[in-house]
Amino acid sequence: MGGRLGFLKWVLLIRVLGCCVEGLGVNWGTMANHKLPPKTIVRMLKDNGIQKVKLFDADQSTMGALAGTGIEVMVAIPNDQLSAMGDYKRAQKWVQRNVTRYNFDGGVTIKYVAVGNEPFLSSYNGSFLNVTLPALQNIQNALNAAGLGESIKATVPLNADVYNSPSNSSYPSAGRFRSDINGLMTEIVQFLSKNNAPFTVNIYPFLSLYGNADFPFDYAFFDGASNPLLDAGTGIQYHNVFDANFDTLVSSLKAVGFGDMPILVGEVGWPTDGDKNANAANAYRFYNGLLPRLAGNKGTPLRPGFIEVYLFSFLDENGKSIAPGNFERHWGIFGYDGQPKFAIDLSGQGQNKLLVGAQDVQYLPQKWCMFNPNAKDLSKLADNINYACTFSDCTSLGYGSSCNNLDANGNASYAFNMYFQVQDQDELACNFQGLATITSQNLSQGTCNFIVQIASSSSTPSFAASFVSLLASMALLFTALLL
Ligand SMILES: *[C@@H]1O[C@H](CO)[C@@H](O)[C@H](O)[C@H]1NC(C)=O
Ligand SMILES: *[C@@H]1O[C@H](CO)[C@@H](O)[C@H](O)[C@H]1NC(C)=O
Ligand SMILES: *[C@@H]1O[C@H](CO)[C@@H](O)[C@H](O)[C@H]1NC(C)=O
Ligand SMILES: *[C@@H]1O[C@H](CO)[C@@H](O)[C@H](O)[C@H]1NC(C)=O
Ligand SMILES: *[C@@H]1O[C@H](CO)[C@@H](O)[C@H](O)[C@H]1NC(C)=O
Ligand SMILES: *[C@@H]1O[C@H](CO)[C@@H](O)[C@H](O)[C@H]1NC(C)=O
Repeated sequence: MGGRLGFLKWVLLIRVLGCCVEGLGVNWGTMANHKLPPKTIVRMLKDNGIQKVKLFDADQSTMGALAGTGIEVMVAIPNDQLSAMGDYKRAQKWVQRNVTRYNFDGGVTIKYVAVGNEPFLSSYNGSFLNVTLPALQNIQNALNAAGLGESIKATVPLNADVYNSPSNSSYPSAGRFRSDINGLMTEIVQFLSKNNAPFTVNIYPFLSLYGNADFPFDYAFFDGASNPLLDAGTGIQYHNVFDANFDTLVSSLKAVGFGDMPILVGEVGWPTDGDKNANAANAYRFYNGLLPRLAGNKGTPLRPGFIEVYLFSFLDENGKSIAPGNFERHWGIFGYDGQPKFAIDLSGQGQNKLLVGAQDVQYLPQKWCMFNPNAKDLSKLADNINYACTFSDCTSLGYGSSCNNLDANGNASYAFNMYFQVQDQDELACNFQGLATITSQNLSQGTCNFIVQIASSSSTPSFAASFVSLLASMALLFTALLL
């Protein structure tokens, strides 16, 4: 008996090892105007062997699609609800509605509640400094009171800017939390520790490169930097900024007395468009350096071993704010339509494998909107392009991006088409004061893809529907037991 079980365990283990780096998760954001149905996305997660997912809310249709899959989920409370969670009764209600409710056999396997999303970013001007810790406390306390505290932990996904960034003058072993929030960070870490909850950090080598013209390019990747960073405190040489960044956090935690606190990387990834360094080749180089290290449980110099990591991101989101940069809408390892962008081996074995794309994607008809070459009055062209881009996504037109080499007419067509597709190919959306016309000819050229949008998923299966089907299967089970 024992032997047989042991054998089964090995079969399972081999299957798990075969598909994915152990513990690998992905971020599933939904800020897109045309979304794939949640069921399609859950199928993609399963087809690619991904067993953990991090959400940015606790949307019913998403949760319904995840129910019964066994995929481990991090649900989230958006920043704009943090202040409300300062009221314990309100936090309790959130936990009832969005956690306890799914906590049954065949429900959703919730492991974490993310309290806010990078709430201490300097660009928020301190708006969430006073509300995050009370929200964290109330949510974990409500989880504890509901008897779920052992298996479900509240955590705050923080940007790596909560500690000083590693550099030649401020090396990892000298890591400290930002001085303006050191006291607050200490209290947060104390509370996390008391509840055996992990620290969650988002680490972005791409942004280190993007934000600093002098940043050594190779150092953003994992295949060796010509000038490694020497940690003057420990003598350790850092060959990539991910390790240096992670270890700066380890040191910051140590400095406030919690050097052994578990750390979870909530977001890490590389975008494929919208900047000169954002392209599929660099993303490939980044992931195919990162994943084998994770698979080998290499860890970092100060924390060798397993790291729980969530890739950012699963899919592109064309509705994200581009305040941080045009690349913001291009973080997906899959495009807007669920098709893989480049080879990536999630098992970390460095094989040149394509991911499994979305099945049965419903596209709009093969129609595009283009600049009308017969248009006479061009005086309003710039205004119309501007309008089209304001209400759609022209981030691929910018410097260093996939559509940057179009001519003036191509530019106009690109903008008009993006707007036309957002508007579900409504004929009225391809006029632009007579400057535009519809075509059935694919206008894509070179690296520039003139997209056809997917049909929006309007009839997303509700949780109620899943619940009904769950009741049905429970009834079947009971019948089976009675017979
Ligand atoms: C549950 O989560 C959803 C989605 O994030 C949110 O809109 C809703 O307000 C939450 N429910 C409660 C009772 O707070
Ligand atoms: C933060 O302050 C800057 C400058 O005062 C302002 O432009 C920006 O809109 C503010 N951001 C937020 C989120 O309040
Ligand atoms: C946070 O609380 C401090 C101290 O009570 C107060 O001075 C500050 O104005 C508050 N900040 C915000 C953004 O509410
Ligand atoms: C550290 O200094 C060396 C030598 O000046 C330089 O080549 C390297 O790019 C610097 N590293 C970082 C991360 O700034
Ligand atoms: C096309 O648009 C991009 C982005 O707006 C701009 O940088 C480029 O100069 C334009 N090209 C032409 C030929 O107008
Ligand atoms: C249009 O052409 C491009 C480049 O050949 C191709 O990748 C894309 O799939 C085509 N689009 C459609 C909707 O057929």
